[in-house]
Amino acid sequence: MPNAIVVGTQWGDEGKAKVIDYLALNSDIIIRYQGGSNAGHTVIVDGKKFVFHMVPSGIMYPDKLCIVSNGVVFDAEQFLREVDELTQSGIKTENRLFISDLAHLVLPYHKALDSANESNMGNGKIGTTGRGIGPSYADKASRCGIRVGDLLDWDTFTKKFSGNFDNKQKIIENVWGAAFRLNKDEIIECYRNFRTRLLPYITDTAFLIFTEYKKGKRLLFEGAQGTFLDIDHGTYPFVTSSNTLSGSACTGSGLGPSAIDHVIGIVKMYTTRVGNGPFPTELNCETGEFLRKSGGEFGATTGRPRRCGWFDAVLVRKAVQINGLTRLALTKLDVLNDLDEIKICTHYQIDGKMTDQYPSSLSQLEKAVPVYETLKGWKCSTSGCKSYKELPSEALAYIERVKELCYSVPVLIVSTGPDRNETLTVETI
Ligand code: GDP
Ligand code: IMO
Ligand code: MG
Repeated sequence: MPNAIVVGTQWGDEGKAKVIDYLALNSDIIIRYQGGSNAGHTVIVDGKKFVFHMVPSGIMYPDKLCIVSNGVVFDAEQFLREVDELTQSGIKTENRLFISDLAHLVLPYHKALDSANESNMGNGKIGTTGRGIGPSYADKASRCGIRVGDLLDWDTFTKKFSGNFDNKQKIIENVWGAAFRLNKDEIIECYRNFRTRLLPYITDTAFLIFTEYKKGKRLLFEGAQGTFLDIDHGTYPFVTSSNTLSGSACTGSGLGPSAIDHVIGIVKMYTTRVGNGPFPTELNCETGEFLRKSGGEFGATTGRPRRCGWFDAVLVRKAVQINGLTRLALTKLDVLNDLDEIKICTHYQIDGKMTDQYPSSLSQLEKAVPVYETLKGWKCSTSGCKSYKELPSEALAYIERVKELCYSVPVLIVSTGPDRNETLTVETI
């Protein structure tokens, strides 16, 4: 497969990891390039389930290189936990898993700040994952962050950490009036151990990626979160703290855009959202409950129930525009198997006016009333289908309509279940 970026087209949890795992078979290097352990990426192979927060989802194949590049905010504790789980399952990470020396660290005080910020926001709470993502990216932008490469020199790390720790302690206690329960010496001791374990993984990943690219190796960029959680283009302030769009794969890895052949948008066949913020097609009724149950829509990171609703074509059309999508990968079609009818939101009505263009203003989006088109359900299992053409005619009609509403971007695959095998290839690239 050519070099491709994979991004979520909605509010995350579209099934990116399942598709990454599938596409990784025909790739050589899988690169996580933004976000942090707020991501919860589920891969199921032969019934065995792995949830990755830090390690790229291509790790299940023993011959693939996996890279956590500079755009990620790196949670050392979580990373090592995943490495241990992989080791226990007989999956080796030595000499094929690398971390950028330029990636910023998420430290315990970032998590403390994340929860202090949230608990002081009252009704304006974002509903973060509590993984310290915002505070870590804030330090990066304020130029006081500590990078993975700082661990290479222990004195540099301890000096920077100690100064930052004291500052954060003051902020939490004086500004938020919260108790700062962290112990500096204990954290330093913990990181002394982490450092020993992390050293073999740390490298200049931008150089590694470029070198492999020049050798003709096939690169697969694994996006985290989704288009509408992007800090610029998403439903700000109800977003994450990184750019989640395809463009950030380049800055987040250090590889120029001329190397990219395809941008694959992962599209869940209905919509979900975790955390707060506007969601025009949300269903607070039995159908919403059905989607949650049938789709197992509970957060892979926090376990929170995901908010569920109909497919929103206005949203995904915007995702096509701002990511430059060249292919769609459709997921969770099977979740709709038992429904009599299925609705697609084709337009919004805002202040009495119909529009098929997603509004950039949050206040406009909050007023959006979805306008639906209704399609017939297929009312049968899709699990026996071994090829795309075998899908029931109503399912094919639904897919065709979704595609048409999304600028007719070609469909690459259709996923009909969580396992690697439950994937129908529509086209090979
Ligand atoms: P990601 O964050 O985009 O990688 O998605 P998550 O892993 O957070 O959530 C997707 C969930 O749906 C996981 O539990 C997957 O195992 C599951 N899943 C992925 N594709 C399919 C599918 O086609 N059908 C069903 N039923 N489940 C799927
Ligand atoms: P994956 O990669 C779904 C949401 C949180 C919250 C907002 C900000 O699994 O699709 P943060 O902790 O990032 O500061 O929280 O973003 N969020 C996600 N929602 N999937 C994710 O990742 C998410 N990562 C963050 O719920 O609303
Ligand atoms: Mg997820």
